[in-house]
Amino acid sequence: MGPDAIEERVSKVAVSHSGQRYRILLGEGLLKQLGTYARKIILRPTCAIISDNNVARFFAGRVKRSLTSAGFKATLIKIPAGETSKTLKQAGAICEQMIIAGLDRQSFVIGLGGGVIGDISGFVAAIYHRGIPHIQIPTTLLAMVDSSIGGKTGVNTADGKNLIGAVHQPSLVIDDVDLLKTLPPREFNQGFAEVIKHAIIADAKMFKQLQSWETGSPLALQQLVCRNIKIKSKIVAKDERDRTGERALLNFGHTVGHAIERAGNYRKFLHGEALSLGIVAACAVSIKRAALAPRQRDAVIDLLQRFDLPTRLPKNFSREKIFKALKFDKKFEAGKIRFVVTPRVGVACLRNDVTLEDIHEAINSL
Ligand SMILES: NC(=O)c1ccc[n+]([C@@H]2O[C@H](COP(=O)([O-])OP(=O)(O)OC[C@H]3O[C@@H](n4cnc5c(N)ncnc54)[C@H](O)[C@@H]3O)[C@@H](O)[C@H]2O)c1
Ligand SMILES: [Zn+2]
Repeated sequence: MGPDAIEERVSKVAVSHSGQRYRILLGEGLLKQLGTYARKIILRPTCAIISDNNVARFFAGRVKRSLTSAGFKATLIKIPAGETSKTLKQAGAICEQMIIAGLDRQSFVIGLGGGVIGDISGFVAAIYHRGIPHIQIPTTLLAMVDSSIGGKTGVNTADGKNLIGAVHQPSLVIDDVDLLKTLPPREFNQGFAEVIKHAIIADAKMFKQLQSWETGSPLALQQLVCRNIKIKSKIVAKDERDRTGERALLNFGHTVGHAIERAGNYRKFLHGEALSLGIVAACAVSIKRAALAPRQRDAVIDLLQRFDLPTRLPKNFSREKIFKALKFDKKFEAGKIRFVVTPRVGVACLRNDVTLEDIHEAINSL
């Protein structure tokens, strides 16, 4: 495909968050054009490409070549793949490498990878010289539909996830669906948990489409990613600082999901897998507290299973451990529970009359 043919099939989403406007470009084969796209919005000479070992192996060469041919000087910084790299120490080490490479206030950062790279590279961009521009190139489905949107960046500490961070909106996001071809199936499927969550809270039509989804067509995937970006960015735009409760709707399924993730020491389940179980639990609570029809809960379970996502806990998995992990959830602050429920697919609301017993009951039913 020549550049003109590529251009025709690029979808563009304009986003305005925290008073900053930026574009999300979606398409196939966009990586080759990266330098040209970056040139249009960034008049800075140097950049760091931050990536992990897995992702860099596949795509760093292409990214660097495209930037070089557009006249940028790019330094590749690789970190080990995985959540354990998302630390303050690793962020510090990246900054040190950027200093050694001579990057300064006139530089920018490109995050090339999944949510881990998006979060840590965004955090580095937020603190380096008190903030330099950030370009996101998400390479997982989860990062495309979720973590690359909204400007939340950060790292973990021994006490919990994302405890240190900053809000730093990207200057550009490039979603090249071709990059998802090398993603292991389990990683690909976990992204669908967030997609299904978006459908449940905001888009009954997308829910229907997913019920007959066949993976294969890159254009269909591009359109699906585009739709999810619009759903998340619209919700974020209404409540950028997490104040009105609107953004909290994105936490549907996450109260129990996070507790399951933690109870499994972040190893047993991927985030999307834990979320899938959390969605089933949230549906059980919704039947009790929001009159969700049981057949809609069954449709949700069928849909999750269609993407090989878990909907039952393994028999020997300690429920007690999940109950304990629940206490770490931010939503339990001051003993108050704000729980997101769905009265019917396509709609969600926050309730504060959900009890801890309701949640325990829902977990026990998994
Ligand atoms: N900032 C936010 O708003 C937000 C929202 C949701 C999640 N997150 C964060 O996102 C992270 C999870 O993101 P993730 O699931 O993308 O994890 P990840 O970045 O660890 O990627 C998953 C795995 O897939 C590999 N990989 C990535 N792209 C690949 C590709 N194209 N081909 C082959 N392998 C590839 C990675 O090397 C890694 O091993 C968590 O740290 C979570 O806290 C942030
Ligand atoms: Zn999530």
